[in-house]
Amino acid sequence: MLATSSIVATVVGLTAWACAATPSQLKATTAIAVPPQAVLLDPLAFNVLSLNGSFRESATEFFNPTNTTPPFFQVFHPDFLKILGPTANIRAVAANPTFLFAHEAPIWAPKTDEVFFASAGGAMAAIDQYQVSKISLRDVAAAIKASGPGVTPVNVTATKIDLPETIQATNGGTGLFYGNLVLVTDGNGPLPPSLALVNPAPPYNATVLLDNFFGRQFNSLNDVKIHPGSNKLFFTDSTYGYFYQLRPPPLLPNQVYRFDPDTGSVRVVADGFDKCNGLAFTPDGKTAFVGDSGSNDGLLGTNQTKAATIYAFDIDAKSMAFTNRRVFAYIDTGIPDGIQLDAAGNVYAGTGDGAQVWGQDGTLLGKFFLGTVSSNLIFAGDGRLVILADTAIYLAEIAAKANMLSFP
Ligand SMILES: *[C@@H]1O[C@H](CO)[C@@H](O)[C@H](O)[C@H]1NC(C)=O
Ligand SMILES: *[C@@H]1O[C@H](CO)[C@@H](O)[C@H](O)[C@H]1NC(C)=O
Ligand SMILES: *[C@@H]1O[C@H](CO)[C@@H](O)[C@H](O)[C@H]1NC(C)=O
Ligand SMILES: *[C@@H]1O[C@H](CO)[C@@H](O)[C@H](O)[C@H]1NC(C)=O
Repeated sequence: MLATSSIVATVVGLTAWACAATPSQLKATTAIAVPPQAVLLDPLAFNVLSLNGSFRESATEFFNPTNTTPPFFQVFHPDFLKILGPTANIRAVAANPTFLFAHEAPIWAPKTDEVFFASAGGAMAAIDQYQVSKISLRDVAAAIKASGPGVTPVNVTATKIDLPETIQATNGGTGLFYGNLVLVTDGNGPLPPSLALVNPAPPYNATVLLDNFFGRQFNSLNDVKIHPGSNKLFFTDSTYGYFYQLRPPPLLPNQVYRFDPDTGSVRVVADGFDKCNGLAFTPDGKTAFVGDSGSNDGLLGTNQTKAATIYAFDIDAKSMAFTNRRVFAYIDTGIPDGIQLDAAGNVYAGTGDGAQVWGQDGTLLGKFFLGTVSSNLIFAGDGRLVILADTAIYLAEIAAKANMLSFP
């Protein structure tokens, strides 16, 4: 009886889906304008590759069946066209092929219209190769204007900022928080990972808010966000400092913490990860997203049977512990790194092929396909998405509006 009714339900469900999707959801969306750099990829067209299909051998190989030259918008669902808008465009705006200058910790400072970000050091890099820099989006706008029509790449100068010795190997950032950049660091050898505020204007002075858990050093702090509503700081801690030979062996589980800057109280709100990485909140502050990049073992390589997964959680109103963990999305290429939301609650993550975007229900809507790893991205106000890709920074001008990350 149970079995019969569930079969009926499945068939009805399939029929309804097939109707809605025939001839195809994507092709039926002629009402929505398709920007020139968009490529529509109907899932119905690649669900069956068949006996001699060209299947991917690894999670680092790209899924680009149209062989389109990046950067472009890969559209799997009509909702991605709404996110992009009819005049969307994407191009590189800064590049340095010899240095991973634009890796993580993107923060938009609205007053000066600058985006701050941290470099990667690369494997076993000297600590002085880890730097925080900024670009001016006013310079970007001027360079684009001067470049004429089309989507020619431009190359504005990234300016390194001088930081005190307490800021060692920045990997995460958010804000502004009371007008300051919020940075989290990996630490370096015996020097502790830390959570710090940094003045976004010269002399870029910093105040470390936290560098231990009741006397124990963190492993290497990875990412940080301000929780909307409580305005407390939440951050992830993972073993990447160790995996990149920057830090001694880890002495704590990889987990997510909540820090209250007013009382100094620090507590764990989520555990059970291989390597927790990016985190983000819905604008109403009720749902948290945490990426687990477990399949990336740093210098030890990739094990693609391990997590490359974004989990969603409810946030307990009293304790602020993350509860009701569920899979939100598994990433087809690479791992989920930094996570951001737009104002409508769509979820964006830096991944192995650029930035990927999911609807609130976890459907993959599309990709900002760069053909290279993106570790994080940031809305610089409505309609401007700045995507970090290690040796380059891309700007996508789109329709989506920014999610507020700052406080107050
Ligand atoms: C697969 O390739 C083999 C060898 O080239 C060929 O004989 C066969 O017909 C192909 N099968 C399909 C379904 O295309
Ligand atoms: C962009 O400019 C920087 C200097 O600001 C330079 O180091 C880099 O090589 C340039 N990139 C390209 C792709 O020309
Ligand atoms: C930077 O220095 C100014 C002047 O002393 C101080 O008011 C401010 O709080 C400092 N900012 C940080 C983030 O340490
Ligand atoms: C990959 O990870 C799985 C699950 O942890 C483990 O069983 C397997 O031994 C790993 N493979 C390699 C090659 O390390």
